[in-house]
Amino acid sequence: MEFTIKTGTPEKLDTGTVVVASFAGGKLTPAAAALDKASKGKLSTVIARGDLDDKAGALLVLHDLPGTACERVIAVSLGKQDEFGERAWRDALAAIAKALTSGPAASAAVCLADTEVPGRDLAWSVLQLTRAIGEATYRYQTTRGKAKDEPRGGVTQVLILTTSKVNTELETALANGQAIAEGMALAKELGNLPGNICTPAYLAETAQQLGKSLKFKVEVLEQKDMEKLGMGSLLSVARGSRQPPKLIVMQYKGGKAKDKPVVLVGKGVTFDSGGISLKPGAEMDEMKFDMCGAASVLGTFKALARMALPINVVGIIPATENMPGGSATKPGDVVTSMSGQTIEILNTDAEGRLILCDALTYAERFKPDCVIDIATLTGACVVALGKIPSGLLANDDALARELLDCGTTSGDRAWQLPLWEDYQELLKSNFADIANIGGRYGGTITAACFLARFTKAYTWAHLDIAGTAWVSGDAKGATGRPVPLLTQFLLGRAATGQG
Ligand code: BES
Ligand code: MN
Ligand code: ZN
Repeated sequence: MEFTIKTGTPEKLDTGTVVVASFAGGKLTPAAAALDKASKGKLSTVIARGDLDDKAGALLVLHDLPGTACERVIAVSLGKQDEFGERAWRDALAAIAKALTSGPAASAAVCLADTEVPGRDLAWSVLQLTRAIGEATYRYQTTRGKAKDEPRGGVTQVLILTTSKVNTELETALANGQAIAEGMALAKELGNLPGNICTPAYLAETAQQLGKSLKFKVEVLEQKDMEKLGMGSLLSVARGSRQPPKLIVMQYKGGKAKDKPVVLVGKGVTFDSGGISLKPGAEMDEMKFDMCGAASVLGTFKALARMALPINVVGIIPATENMPGGSATKPGDVVTSMSGQTIEILNTDAEGRLILCDALTYAERFKPDCVIDIATLTGACVVALGKIPSGLLANDDALARELLDCGTTSGDRAWQLPLWEDYQELLKSNFADIANIGGRYGGTITAACFLARFTKAYTWAHLDIAGTAWVSGDAKGATGRPVPLLTQFLLGRAATGQG
């Protein structure tokens, strides 16, 4: 996909599709008005007849509009003007992105960036627009065999037209939107790959290739290295599997040597059977998505390196399967984590926190500015929040607020849950410093409380993406979330010179 941005109006453009917008009731945006004028009022007449639904995201396709040079015009509805905001804008973007990436035209001129979204500037609109179209081009094909989609149409060249002057800020927004879409595509692909292909070794290999092509440092720690470091908790999860665990460490150095890094830690359970505390069979296949935290860190690194942000970022991915093999950890086993704290494993299906805690202790050596872990950690998070926001818990309110803001800005939202000390007693164990489960209630919070015991040395936030990393049902597949949130966070840090 090739994106360019230019100043201009669309009426003389010889292109496959021109996209313009209209509010409910027929109020045209400036580009749409230019087309309307060129077609001697045809566009507004058709809209006035009721051919374009009022609902934001509704589309109207017009072929060979008189007075214009393009093959077709797609008008998208922005909904009622007095209700217009980010929600309607995203609905319109999603509809356009789908129409362009599955339609017959190879080239398109999109005149939506000038639509003023309250509280947002033109650069923001350009980034969101580019990302939305870029993101919609992803299709999973790798293992579909004969079911592979026929090579189809879809745009390959997108021109963003604005009436404003194009400056470097807009050029950067365009490039960043593409970089984020590419990062999301990588996260989706890794999530969608089956567990027999996307193993811990595969994730490590992917990281190494990424580091090589995008020039950042990647190190892969093997089982014996983890033994030396005393990562008894991480290793206890890997014991039941034939696949060797990997601890992937990526270092992107775009900032000054003295700048403390942002550290991203992603849960990389490439298949979660539950271990000896075996999960029920229904939908167990979806536990191949249990490495989506890891995938989001890899996707974010891809975007970060492409955007060449002037900050330092470390990525840490503990990668393993959770299987019930003969030497698997048993309920009641006690293990010693790298931090020295002992853990009674009451349920082997609460394995995410067991691999994350050692990775979080390992993170201390980078003297982080802050640490964010990303994990498909608890089914309870899906019960509490559904599949709209990711769960957010943090030991620092400023960091939590910063992430919540980035969620809104990127449209990849999170919602905060409390991390109060009061919950800690639920993790009491008679046989160790801490138990790995906290009982029936508040499962997302007790999971985060467990992690909090290992993050006392730095500012930390935890994103529970159990509900947001993939969708189930007919459209089953990874979403690429929370790459938009994480990249927005890094963009913000780069702009303010922190991190
Ligand atoms: N990977 C799962 C969490 C999960 C379950 C995510 C379903 C998305 C959908 C995690 O390892 C897990 O099994 N968590 C347990 C924790 C429990 C044993 C305390 C859960 O949520 O049931
Ligand atoms: Mn589990
Ligand atoms: Zn899991």
